Amino acid sequence: MTTELRATVHELVHKGKGILAADESAPTIANRFKAIGVESTEENRRAWRGLVLATAGLGQYVSGVILYEETLGQRADGGEPLPELAARQGLVPGIKVDCGKGPLALAPGDEITYGLDGLAERLERYKQQGARFAKWRAVYNVSGLLPSRAAIEANAEALARYAAVCQSLDVVPIVEPEVLIDGGHAQARCAEVTLAVLHEVFAALNRHSVALEHMLLKPSMVVPGKAHTQQATPAEVAEQTLRVLRRAVPAAVPGINFLSGGQSPAEATANLDALNRLGPHPWQLSFSYGRALQDPAMQAWRGQSGNAALAQKALLQRARLNSAATLGDYSASMEDAT
Ligand code: 13P
Repeated sequence: MTTELRATVHELVHKGKGILAADESAPTIANRFKAIGVESTEENRRAWRGLVLATAGLGQYVSGVILYEETLGQRADGGEPLPELAARQGLVPGIKVDCGKGPLALAPGDEITYGLDGLAERLERYKQQGARFAKWRAVYNVSGLLPSRAAIEANAEALARYAAVCQSLDVVPIVEPEVLIDGGHAQARCAEVTLAVLHEVFAALNRHSVALEHMLLKPSMVVPGKAHTQQATPAEVAEQTLRVLRRAVPAAVPGINFLSGGQSPAEATANLDALNRLGPHPWQLSFSYGRALQDPAMQAWRGQSGNAALAQKALLQRARLNSAATLGDYSASMEDAT
């Protein structure tokens, strides 16, 4: 049992590589497509994700890909199931298993993630379709009062129960507590909330007997709110993020793969690079970006199959730059290289 978990972690936590999050839910991908004037039909979603997974050389920089349920059952143009295409490219296929979020009752402004009921049965099915790891996202809105203790505890409990179900089925859980970037809060408030959230998440993981060696953490970086007057430099983001991680994340966790959470592609890369320049760290610090990897490629694609090569080139470029950032080898001048 542990052998399978260990093998999957070993493949995912690979020097110079990170994870591609291509698991946008139906409403989220519809928003992303709307921004490029593309209708969110099943065929357009298949075309986009097929294009992404077929990018030659992606496996050099990316060790795993998080897919959405629908994608697990879709096929590439040539008829190959998309999870098989991913695996052939050297990308371990994973699956988003939470069922989205909604209001936490009697806690105005707080949210809770759905999807624990029937999770084991769904996971069995996803495994048969090729998934070897999973992802569950909890979100925390930030203000002077939010998130409440109730939200911090309820989401930690759900994350831990999800992770325990995954490990019981030999699926590696990615535990994703996302402290949202929305709002006008200062970086210090983000640090305070992130620390409280991570403390509670690891207490819950411990309570539910989750093996930290066989999971990955996908946190947000410690950044000021998007509407805050003063934005932080990569060095400031790196310093504050590390301070929190060192206090809250046990060294037994093999890898921390950040989400991009609304940072621009270049910001997400520069911040990851700054983090790795402060290494060595007890965990491998890498990426699990969605928008920061896919946005430039989507802009190049715009729903036109004739733009596929351009889109793949843009995706590969971001993957390459983020790979460099995992080694602390990125510089802004690399952005101009073709
Ligand atoms: P972003 O990098 O776009 O935040 O997406 C990562 C993710 O998986 C969010 O759940």
